[in-house]
Amino acid sequence: MKESTTINKASINIEKIRADFPILSRKVNGKPLIYFDNGATAQKPLSVIEAIDNYYKTQNANIHRGVHTLSQEITIEYEKARSTIQKHLNAKHAHEIIFTKGTTDSINLVASSFGKKYISKGDEIIISLMEHHSNILPWQILCEERGAILKVIPINDAGELLMNEFEKLLNAKIKIVALTHISNTLGTINPVKEIIEIAHSKNIPVLIDGAQAVPHSAIDVQDLDADFYAFSGHKLFGPTGVGVLYGKEKWLNKMPPYQVGGGTIKTVTFDKTEYADLPLKFEAGTPHIEGGIGLATAIDYINEIGLDTIAKYEHELLVYATEAIQKIEGVKIIGTAKNKASVISFIVDGLHPFDIGTILDQLGIAVRTGHHCTQPLMQHFGIKGTIRASFAFYNTKQEIDEFIKGLERAIKMLK
Ligand SMILES: Cc1ncc(COP(=O)(O)O)c(C=O)c1O
Repeated sequence: MKESTTINKASINIEKIRADFPILSRKVNGKPLIYFDNGATAQKPLSVIEAIDNYYKTQNANIHRGVHTLSQEITIEYEKARSTIQKHLNAKHAHEIIFTKGTTDSINLVASSFGKKYISKGDEIIISLMEHHSNILPWQILCEERGAILKVIPINDAGELLMNEFEKLLNAKIKIVALTHISNTLGTINPVKEIIEIAHSKNIPVLIDGAQAVPHSAIDVQDLDADFYAFSGHKLFGPTGVGVLYGKEKWLNKMPPYQVGGGTIKTVTFDKTEYADLPLKFEAGTPHIEGGIGLATAIDYINEIGLDTIAKYEHELLVYATEAIQKIEGVKIIGTAKNKASVISFIVDGLHPFDIGTILDQLGIAVRTGHHCTQPLMQHFGIKGTIRASFAFYNTKQEIDEFIKGLERAIKMLK
């Protein structure tokens, strides 16, 4: 950890933190950047950028294969990164941490591999109405291939899961529940621990899509008792192209390899191949080595601040922004769950989200507009898209003030 990132654990030292993120000092369209698109991808602290830079300048070699010093050094470093992630998630074993390309890749891995082994004609899979397409399509394809059926947990007007409807869906045909921890569109924090407990009481395993949860809260996979937990490095202040699948050893050992090739084997003959033990069985080809190292560096960085401190500060930002947005005439927030992460989706009467996003961009303010890869959720609310502001711990109330002013200005210009 670099000295420049030493932070008071009890509260956010915002100046110090912002200085750690070089991109936050740039201008966009002549205005200081206000980055409120953290749900799409988060910015990177200097320590992560330097870890990647250092990898290419001093450490570059392939892992797990060489007898030479560079290869051995980087293999140790890469496996150290795996251990950092294991500790961060409180996984029981380092080999339960599978490096993937990201959340999408992790979910595809489970749908494909678990699906091959456990899903047959007439089986059922439960997801929810608020899933990102990445936690719909792998299961939809699996159902089409296997003749299985996709069941969907409905939600209420606030964007909360209807738990009694979930319980009604449970029956002996259900083979897996796949659910988002936090909705990227609504910000709803789902009661995943309770859901896992209910599913386990019927011997049904649960996959949690943690893409939006990992950046905002401490995750303990053993406490949750999750069977699978997926997330992406780039939303956790780490590099793009790398992510994680946590899987319980008992499932991963039984599941067949997903993609195969170099790195996944013990022995190969033209007649038969014996596959490697965990985690290598699921890590085909040369991995994103600097990605894994960068991700572990990002985890070190956020742990230095403390996830409880982060969650508390982001909640303050959420409350502050929600109160301000609600005062603007014609604005409707989509997603008003009691338990919410720092994500605000909204629509403005008679105006297209794209037009508002474009004007905000002229003011240096980056928000996301559109369906946020949750089209079934948009269909449920009868809308085409929303404007989404999603905050991280480097955002400030002053930035929210600027955003509110910009939003009012955009509405005035477009009406
Ligand atoms: C809830 C959720 N799941 C899955 C994904 C997909 O993540 P990735 O594109 O990093 O694979 C996202 C990305 O926005 C997301 O928000």
